[in-house]
Amino acid sequence: MSREFIIPKKIITGEGAIENAIPYITSMGKKPLIVTGRIVAKSDAFKALAEGLESNGIPCTVFTGITGEPTDIMINEGLSAYRENGCDCLIGIGGGSPLDAVKAIAVSAVCGGRLSDYMGREITGDFPPMVAIPTTAGTGSEATKFTVITDAATDVKMLLKGEGLVPDIAVIDPEATLTMPKTITASTGLDALTHAVEAYTSKLAQPLTDTLALSAVKRIFKYLPAAFENGDNKKARAEMSVAALEAGICINNSSVTIVHGMSRPIGALFHVPHGMSNAMLLEKCMDFAKDGALKKFAELGRAAEVADAHMDDQAAAEKFVGALGRLCRICNVPTVSEYGIDKQKFIDAIPKMAHDSIASGSPGNTQKAVTEDDIKEIYKSLV
Ligand SMILES: [Fe+2]
Repeated sequence: MSREFIIPKKIITGEGAIENAIPYITSMGKKPLIVTGRIVAKSDAFKALAEGLESNGIPCTVFTGITGEPTDIMINEGLSAYRENGCDCLIGIGGGSPLDAVKAIAVSAVCGGRLSDYMGREITGDFPPMVAIPTTAGTGSEATKFTVITDAATDVKMLLKGEGLVPDIAVIDPEATLTMPKTITASTGLDALTHAVEAYTSKLAQPLTDTLALSAVKRIFKYLPAAFENGDNKKARAEMSVAALEAGICINNSSVTIVHGMSRPIGALFHVPHGMSNAMLLEKCMDFAKDGALKKFAELGRAAEVADAHMDDQAAAEKFVGALGRLCRICNVPTVSEYGIDKQKFIDAIPKMAHDSIASGSPGNTQKAVTEDDIKEIYKSLV
């Protein structure tokens, strides 16, 4: 079977990437809407972007209404800002939320209607140029055709997708991640790890993403503890930025599996940040999935240098799954109850979460049959 491999048209990486991206951004449009959060709007990375554009005669309209994981209400506000200011391109700078928001604003501007109308469909349209500048290292949104928007009325995290939503330019400047707080370093770094592991063990895995996934897993095992321990460690930040990009390209082309499928309902109902809800599930889900792709889990164990070369696949795969749990503990990932979620409320939500998880389609990419009962059991094991 032939496969496709889709990435942004231009990827600029390394120190000074934002400044170096300015000529390309200014050639794409004359009235960008910059979508960001209130904290990032005060950062050096944002200043470099805004000053770079303004010194080239490009006025910046800034929308700071993405105050958490984006909802359809926030997207409508962003759409108003885009239209009222006559904007012609979109720049997302910040964590995964503003980057996802840019894609959803583009869909709303071009396709109209409600975002929920587009769930489960390949979204097409002549979208405005988009630039993605991550200030975290994990979501990979800068390299994907996906955007996750919460439907505020139903509390469902809607996974929306379209090839035209892959940003035209991805700007990966590790300097922009230096001020990331510890908890965000952990949750986004573990999100990237989840992307790489899921894509590598997905039914949709392919040779090009396998290479990137192994590389990302290696980098994350080596450098996430260092970045978590000391945010000023430039080498660790640079390696994590590359790993997050690699892992983002992986999910764009080989998809996610059971962890993301189960994580979105926890995020939607209990407002756990995306990377953290993934991390809560990672070891348990991969322990379940490993029998279906034993050789691949073993290869991950060897790449992460947690399994010895002489170990058989079973032992190496088990070592890897155990190491996932250890890395989450190093990064202080809380349990469901440590996070403050009421145990009974969580148990009561399991039927809806299991239903929504299966309905998302992601668990179906796991190289092992996943039933709604399997998912319920894994949710139960978290409390
Ligand atoms: Fe993710």
